[in-house]
Amino acid sequence: MLKIGILGLGTVGSGVVKIMQQNSVNIHNKVGTDLKIEKILVNNINKERIVDIEPGVLTENESDILDNPAIDIVVELIGGEEPAYKYIMRAIENGKHIVTANKLVIAKHGKEIFKKAEEKNVQVSYEASVAGGLPIIRPLQNSLAANRIEKIYGILNGTTNYILTKMSEDNQSFEEALLKAQEMGYAESDPTSDVDGYDAAYKITILSSLAYQRFVDVENVYVEGIRNIAIDDIKFAKEMGYVIKLLAIAKNSDEGLDIRVHPAFVPENHTLAMINNTYNCVYLHGDAVGEVMSSAEGAGQMPTGSAVVADIIYISKNINYNKQEYPKIDSCQKNNIIDTKE
Ligand code: HSE
Repeated sequence: MLKIGILGLGTVGSGVVKIMQQNSVNIHNKVGTDLKIEKILVNNINKERIVDIEPGVLTENESDILDNPAIDIVVELIGGEEPAYKYIMRAIENGKHIVTANKLVIAKHGKEIFKKAEEKNVQVSYEASVAGGLPIIRPLQNSLAANRIEKIYGILNGTTNYILTKMSEDNQSFEEALLKAQEMGYAESDPTSDVDGYDAAYKITILSSLAYQRFVDVENVYVEGIRNIAIDDIKFAKEMGYVIKLLAIAKNSDEGLDIRVHPAFVPENHTLAMINNTYNCVYLHGDAVGEVMSSAEGAGQMPTGSAVVADIIYISKNINYNKQEYPKIDSCQKNNIIDTKE
C-alpha cells in the first residue's frame, strides 16, 4: 500500500478524493497496490465537506503530512505561491514524491524544486498545472520528445475563454461572465491572475521550458489580459470574420524564444476559434510530427482532478516498480471480447 497526503481540499482536492474513491479498483489494478489517502490538510476540520472523508484523515497541522514518515506522496493543491512553495520544498527534503497543480510555483520556482528533487531522488509531477484535463506535460516529456518544437499556440485559461465566449454568444457583460466563472469554480480566488493573463503566462512558461529544454523566466513573457476588451470589439471582429481569443504563444527561432500572452484576432474558420467556454486547447508544430492539436476542459473539479490522479498513479507505478503498461492477462474477461468472425 502507498500512502498519500493531500494539501488542500478545495475544488480540485474534492475532485481528487472523489475520483480516488469512485475508481479505486481501477486504480488498484493499474498501480498494483492500494493507494490510501492518509491525511488531508484543511483550514478548518469542522467545515462541512462535499466528499465523504474517514474520521481522523483531516488535519489542520501541515506537519502531519510533510513530516509524516508513513506518507509516500504529497499532493499540493493549495495554489498560490506561499505556503505552497515552502511546503513542497519541505516535503521533498523529507524524501516525499510530489504531485502539484500549481502553475505559479512550477513556473517561478521550478528550477529550485527540480534541483532539490534530483538531490533527494524523488519525482515531481505537474500535469494538472497546465490546462486541467488536457494531457500536455507528459506528451511533451515523452510522446513528442523526438521533435524540435517550432511553435506552440494555446488557449490556456478557462476563465477568460468562458468570459469571451459569453460576451460573444450571449452579449453578457465582462463582469457578469466573470461572476459566473467564479461561481462554477473556474476562476482563481483572486481572478486578477486569470483576466490579466498571468495564469496563462505561467502555463506557457512551463510548456516552453519543457518544449525548448531551458528554464524560461516568466518575467520575460509579454503579458496582456482581456480587461480592455469590449463587446463592441468582439462584434467588430465578428463582422470582419474573426474571433477574439486570449492566446498564449511560444515560438522558437534563430533569434531566440518569443513568448507572449495577449488577445488576438483568430480567423473564424481556424480550429482555435471554435474552442469555447472553459475548454483549453494546445496547438503545436514539431519538425517530425507536424501539427498536433488537443483540446479538453481546462479547469474545474473533475477535469483537473483527473490530471492530478493520473500523476498520483504515474508516480505510484514507478515506486511500485509495476512497469506493465498493458492489462494483466488474468484481468481480461474472456466473454467481454466480441467475436467479429460471426
Ligand atoms: N483559473 C484557471 C483557469 C484554472 O481558469 O483556467 C485552471 O488553471
